[in-house]
Amino acid sequence: MEQTHGIPENHYREAAEHIRARLSVAPEVGLVLGSGLGPLVDEIEGAQAIPFQEIPHWPRATVQGHAGKLVGGTLEGRSVLVMQGRLHFYEGYSLAQVTLPVRVMRLLGIDTLILTNAAGGLNRSFSAGDIMVIEDHIFPAGFSGTNPLHGPNLGMFGPRFPVHTHTYSRQLRALAHRVAAQHGFTLREGVYVSLSGPAFETPAEVRLFRAWGGDAVGMSTAPEALVACHAGMRVLGFSSITNISLDSTTAQQEVSHEDVLRAGKQIVPRLATLLRGVLRELPPLDPGEIENAPEHD
Ligand code: HPA
Repeated sequence: MEQTHGIPENHYREAAEHIRARLSVAPEVGLVLGSGLGPLVDEIEGAQAIPFQEIPHWPRATVQGHAGKLVGGTLEGRSVLVMQGRLHFYEGYSLAQVTLPVRVMRLLGIDTLILTNAAGGLNRSFSAGDIMVIEDHIFPAGFSGTNPLHGPNLGMFGPRFPVHTHTYSRQLRALAHRVAAQHGFTLREGVYVSLSGPAFETPAEVRLFRAWGGDAVGMSTAPEALVACHAGMRVLGFSSITNISLDSTTAQQEVSHEDVLRAGKQIVPRLATLLRGVLRELPPLDPGEIENAPEHD
């Protein structure tokens, strides 16, 4: 039996079977809700909730502001499967565990994944309350080998050496900008720096990430995007800019998880509008946009 990081192939399949048996509709789109963004599930029609702990092999959410439920239902006529609460590396999970839900979604037939997160703004023109569509990411943990695709490759999902030139769908980014313009609000676009956490970045790191070309910084998203892209899924990512990252040790303010949750709440209505608009107009997946294909079934 093939394994990745100790996760055997059948664990993904068993989790998918369990979820499939409990949902009345096969999901098309996966959605991961970041810190403070959980209330977006209230938008789902015909919601069927499955607590993480009832799904075989599924890690539990341990962070405040992450409910730990998988919710199936429809939004704007699309069948969606929503992670209300995500899993993070800093909770003590391996990146293979953190990204297990993405692979399970793939086995359920989901080909489009929308990732959301709360992030600090690095770009000097950003303000708290902005929404940024993710153009690309920087994943420093990956520089030293901490990558969710580390270990034997599971060819049923994708290739040994996946290409990540277009991790975040150009087509869906363009659609997100159109939807934002239709509703008269500004949508930022930029590079997300994905840290392991749980420590917030230091001011010196903020200056470094800016020099690298980072526009926002947070503690999630890149692992899921890497695994989704490996599995030939189309990915769209949104960062809700809950605070501006401090770049000087003389700064008086501090950032706290509570502030992040509070700011996230204020962004929810605009993010909901954006998600609804994207789902309403979601084009069929263009195979030409997909960089990676499975090596075998
Ligand atoms: N840094 C890292 N993660 C975050 C931040 C931040 O400033 N804000 C919200 N999540």
